[in-house]
Amino acid sequence: MSEPQTIHLADYRPFPFTLGEVQLTFRLAPAATRVLSRFTLAPKGGREDLVLFGAHLRLIRAAVNGAEIRAEPKDGQIRIAAADLPEGPFTWEAEVEIDPAGNTALEGLYMSNGMYCTQCEAEGFRRITFYPDRPDVMTTFRVRIESDLPVLLSNGNPVAEGPGFAEWHDPWPKPSYLFALVAGDLRAHPGQFTTRSGREVALNIWVRPGDEDRCDWALTSLKASMRWDEEVYGREYDLDIFNIVAVDDFNMGAMENKGLNIFNSRAVLARADTATDADFMRIEAIIAHEYFHNWTGNRITCRDWFQLCLKEGLTVFRDQQFTGDLRGAAVKRIEDALTLRDRQFREDTGPLAHPVRPSSFVEINNFYTATVYEKGAELIGMLKRLVGDAGYKAALDLYFTRHDGQACTLEDWLKVFEEATGRDLTQFARWYSQAGTPRLEVSEAWDEAGVFTLTLRQSQPETPDGVEKLPLHIPVVTGLLNPNGDELAPSVTLELTETEQSFRFEGLSTRPIASVLRDFSAPVILSHRQSDATRAFLLAHDSDPFNRWEAGRTLSREVLARLISEGTPPSADWLAAMAALLRDESLEPAFRALCLRLPGEDDMAATLAGSGLVPDPHHIHRARRSLQTTLARHLAPQLPGLIRAMTPQGPYSPDPTSTGQRSLKNMALALQTRLDGGAAAQSAWQAADNMTDQMAALACLIEAGCAGTALRAFEARYGGDRLVMDKWFMTQVLCAPPETAADVAEALTAHPKFDLKNPNRFRAVFGALSANHAGFHRADGTGYRLLADWLLRLDALNPQTAARMSTAFETLPRYDADRQAMMREELQRLKAAPRLSRDLGEMVSRMLG
Ligand code: PHE
Ligand code: ZN
Repeated sequence: MSEPQTIHLADYRPFPFTLGEVQLTFRLAPAATRVLSRFTLAPKGGREDLVLFGAHLRLIRAAVNGAEIRAEPKDGQIRIAAADLPEGPFTWEAEVEIDPAGNTALEGLYMSNGMYCTQCEAEGFRRITFYPDRPDVMTTFRVRIESDLPVLLSNGNPVAEGPGFAEWHDPWPKPSYLFALVAGDLRAHPGQFTTRSGREVALNIWVRPGDEDRCDWALTSLKASMRWDEEVYGREYDLDIFNIVAVDDFNMGAMENKGLNIFNSRAVLARADTATDADFMRIEAIIAHEYFHNWTGNRITCRDWFQLCLKEGLTVFRDQQFTGDLRGAAVKRIEDALTLRDRQFREDTGPLAHPVRPSSFVEINNFYTATVYEKGAELIGMLKRLVGDAGYKAALDLYFTRHDGQACTLEDWLKVFEEATGRDLTQFARWYSQAGTPRLEVSEAWDEAGVFTLTLRQSQPETPDGVEKLPLHIPVVTGLLNPNGDELAPSVTLELTETEQSFRFEGLSTRPIASVLRDFSAPVILSHRQSDATRAFLLAHDSDPFNRWEAGRTLSREVLARLISEGTPPSADWLAAMAALLRDESLEPAFRALCLRLPGEDDMAATLAGSGLVPDPHHIHRARRSLQTTLARHLAPQLPGLIRAMTPQGPYSPDPTSTGQRSLKNMALALQTRLDGGAAAQSAWQAADNMTDQMAALACLIEAGCAGTALRAFEARYGGDRLVMDKWFMTQVLCAPPETAADVAEALTAHPKFDLKNPNRFRAVFGALSANHAGFHRADGTGYRLLADWLLRLDALNPQTAARMSTAFETLPRYDADRQAMMREELQRLKAAPRLSRDLGEMVSRMLG
């Protein structure tokens, strides 16, 4: 094997041929599937070599214009010199053999629990046959599947079927990454949708026998998504059938293949007694996300993988809007900001920082990141803020009409905004190429003549790519409050375009209180020095729910930071503010629960590191626990009543109101557990009639150190259920005390149900280990060593998931010299391993810097 190559955006060249319809025939057999392919290629002009990608394929036969040729696959491709090709259009045919049963990478065609399925994004189609496997090559597909299995599916519409075969035709031109095939003994949970122009669409959720009663929620969510996209974006579905398949072994959440979405079963299957509120909400959001891709991704796709955020950032933004519309925009915005900070800011401040549009990569699978997805979505939100709702709508309409059927770039995207709104987005475009989280410093001045001045200053951190940073165009939504709590005027969007700019507010009679970066209007780190009293005031009065929550969050973070670094106990003001919040019945329960949640340990480590300190994970853990206990003592009189009042009556329902109530109830239960050693959790465990309450009680029991019986009962009841058992594995590691988390994880790897080949199970154990901050960073390095050992084992089977899980080490630069040295040692050990994958190899090299 030659050295892995770096691919550069600047090297993009169009594919020099036009493809006719692709014909594929699959003769399915577990270890030896034959794939026959046939398509025409017409030179676009000029004479160029033909390059077809192929990986892990056994070439049986290749022919040009019907005449067999000797093709030599080399370094993952077949190259046929221009001189050896006919001058005009010609037909390419190939027959290859592949081994789905031996495919543990879960890319291309593989087997999961006796069924065949495919995953082709980003470059999995080349594991199926030789092909110009790049997103800018779009054509229609005709597919014949030969197999005795009862259900045979592919993209588009069914056109023929008989004993042992089925044929499908997809009339919409698509790139190969959207190809899909499924074959197995599956059951349909059927549904039906009429589009607003009257098209009758047959819907099916396909699952393994036994899972039929876990499909309702996915179907409900799908219909809601289809309706929403018509109403809000004017986008209709465009085929007569829409299939979703649940697969147990899957590297990611789900995949938007045209007309045949394939889902990780955990992102689709749900029933009250097997899935939590969080699962229900995740399913709703992912179903929407994949459905929305039909327009933003499929009808309009990406020219090359550097443009990934063109489809992902936009589609995440759309699914966030959808959830906000269904479940309440304020709580959704807070949750999205929390995720962004947890995952994207973390990535952006470490060695893996990269721009929303990277300029080079070794393995594209390593760039399905929080930066491309979540920061990509934030950029759309800022654009919408800058051009206004009407401008956004005009730009999107233009995008859909102008680019339908095309493979586009971010330049195309920005241009529709410029043309539809007349705004110059040259400076805004820097957001796509500059990595790192900008800092925004705010200072205030007040003069007695009634002028209040806000000075905004931006700075950009250095990032590993060494790119020179220029000022960004940052929308800063700002409001001013009177000391009595009234708004002085509607919020304004201050547009910061220079490094530093001042904004004057005149004609005021008293000094106002400023509420800056409302609705989290830009993905930046805000530093705005305000007194505890001012923050408490905003927590009580801000009309912007995000900033209301944010004021409380900042207070809590400061309280916790002072406890960690100076041992200062929390102020009475903070405790009083929390108690007032909890009692305020005008506030949604979900919002109150969010306000009560203390910043996490990882968040605190980032905060301390951000202010030049070296975080000590154990110290942070102890301090946070003790703050929780103090808070619990202070709120003690309210907790039992709250637990009772926030228990929804009647059968379980994942609606927003009940979900919010349960989140507040279970937050109160966690606090109560700090006081009673698990007594309330024991009764909650007994009383639980849904998975949300069961998991909440179980977590409390583990933290209280008295979960033995409950864990055994849980295993006895759900041992045969893969998805529920993932929770059992996960929660034991996540809630374990830091001293034992790594040992618990290690012991679980010896459990008969631990399965290295199932990404969900691997993530349950090792995702939980890296999320147990103090447990993973145990001072003796056990956590690091254990993870590295298992990453190596996983890498031999599934490089993509191994690479993704290796990001546990991305925060390395934050910690003390000893921990850094131990983390580096593990990364070095990985790097030196024989046969390390390109995926994990790239990640490790970047983290070692
Ligand atoms: N395109 C998928 C999504 O975001 C994610 C994905 C990428 C799935 C690569 C599998 C492999 O919806
Ligand atoms: Zn997506």
